[in-house]
Amino acid sequence: MVDAANGLAPPAALTSFVGRAHEFAALSALVASDRVVSILGPGGSGKSRLAWELVGRRHERGGAWCFTELIDDVTSAAQVAERVAAALALPVGAGQDALAELCARLRDQDVLVTLDGCERAVEPIAQIVARLAASCPAVTFLVTSREPLLVAGETLYRLPPMTLPQPADLADPQAVATCDAVALFLVRSPRAPESLSHADGLLVAEICLELDGAPLAIELAAACLDHVELVDVARGLSDRFALLSRGPRGPRGAPARHCTIAACIDWTHDLLGEPDRSVFRRLSVSAGPFGLAAATAVAGWSALDDSAVTAAVSRLVDRSLVERAPAAPDGTARYRLLTTLRAYGQRELDSAGERTVTSEAHLSWWGGLGRDARDALEGADAQDWLARLRYAADAGEWAAGADLITALTLFWHGAGLHREGLRHAQRTR
Ligand SMILES: Nc1ncnc2c1ncn2[C@@H]1O[C@H](COP(=O)(O)OP(=O)(O)OP(=O)(O)O)[C@@H](O)[C@H]1O
Ligand SMILES: [Mg+2]
Repeated sequence: MVDAANGLAPPAALTSFVGRAHEFAALSALVASDRVVSILGPGGSGKSRLAWELVGRRHERGGAWCFTELIDDVTSAAQVAERVAAALALPVGAGQDALAELCARLRDQDVLVTLDGCERAVEPIAQIVARLAASCPAVTFLVTSREPLLVAGETLYRLPPMTLPQPADLADPQAVATCDAVALFLVRSPRAPESLSHADGLLVAEICLELDGAPLAIELAAACLDHVELVDVARGLSDRFALLSRGPRGPRGAPARHCTIAACIDWTHDLLGEPDRSVFRRLSVSAGPFGLAAATAVAGWSALDDSAVTAAVSRLVDRSLVERAPAAPDGTARYRLLTTLRAYGQRELDSAGERTVTSEAHLSWWGGLGRDARDALEGADAQDWLARLRYAADAGEWAAGADLITALTLFWHGAGLHREGLRHAQRTR
């Protein structure tokens, strides 16, 4: 019998857990129904913290569990099995096969096995999970990772950002303070005001939005208030890699990859092969969502053909460096980079000396759209081009939007649809 009380505890949290009510409920339901549940997301998005919380509450209810941190150098399936056995306090003698022992001991057990930080050893961990899941029907795995294990039956749960203020909230500082991202900022701030003034509420909202609701970045930004003012933090985000660093003053004990926002991204970026690095940095010229056609136009040069770019985009999505965005009006897939990842990509673009050539490829792709619009409008269905104009507006591609408006103006003028044209032009402004 596995003794729940013997399970190795998740690290004791020294700071309060904030929000995530919806995500907690969704994950609890998944863990109750599915065998392998992977919480996925970029570095510092709160995967481990949510898993600790789930395990902690299971512990309170008396369910059996174990928690295994695998973030450091685990290179073989045998090591993974030994770690899980150790976390369950199962004695495995020298020379014994830890996996065989685990299969035998867990065969009839209802245990939640939590594997935290799997992205650096996906293959050996996947082997162990597949073997144990097949041999032990009541064992459930909760995985945190920046990329999926890709084992049969794995349910992927992509952790969304913490909830952010909506435009309608901005008039009311109390409404701003209730969303998770702002609540985390305030609770981690060394000088949190008793109540948020309107001006400060706007600044905190701006900071959280600029950081895409990413908890690690929010914690690092809040810690800055120890030595600068809110307005300095908001302005400082234009150079976020210099600002978002725990610096020499701690807190001590934070893992090195969480001490600066750059180190947090390096952790994944260092694992990329050269084609994926090239595509990632080149995609950073896109201000908003983009489709595969734009991706190949922007990143597909110097030895990277369209299929290489498409394959790289899929791998970057797997590694949580690029995320899926809502589909385009024509139903095709769209992608985007979170603001901090985009800023990282742009730094890489500059170091590779590729900024000019990539920006030119980007401009020429959107410029081509404008020219196509002019050619196609004679007798063609303008709705399709209006959809592209909306796409450009959503993507924040203002120069492209202006090109499309120029093209469409001829159509609106010819068709006597001046009011209609004005409405669309105002939206793209
Ligand atoms: N809901 C939350 N409430 C309070 N703090 C949080 C919450 N989510 C995350 N944090 C804090 O944000 C930081 C990053 O979170 P966490 O370690 O869970 O990220 P992660 O996604 O596991 O990152 P990595 O991919 O590097 O392992 C931690 O300091 C954590 O305590
Ligand atoms: Mg983690």
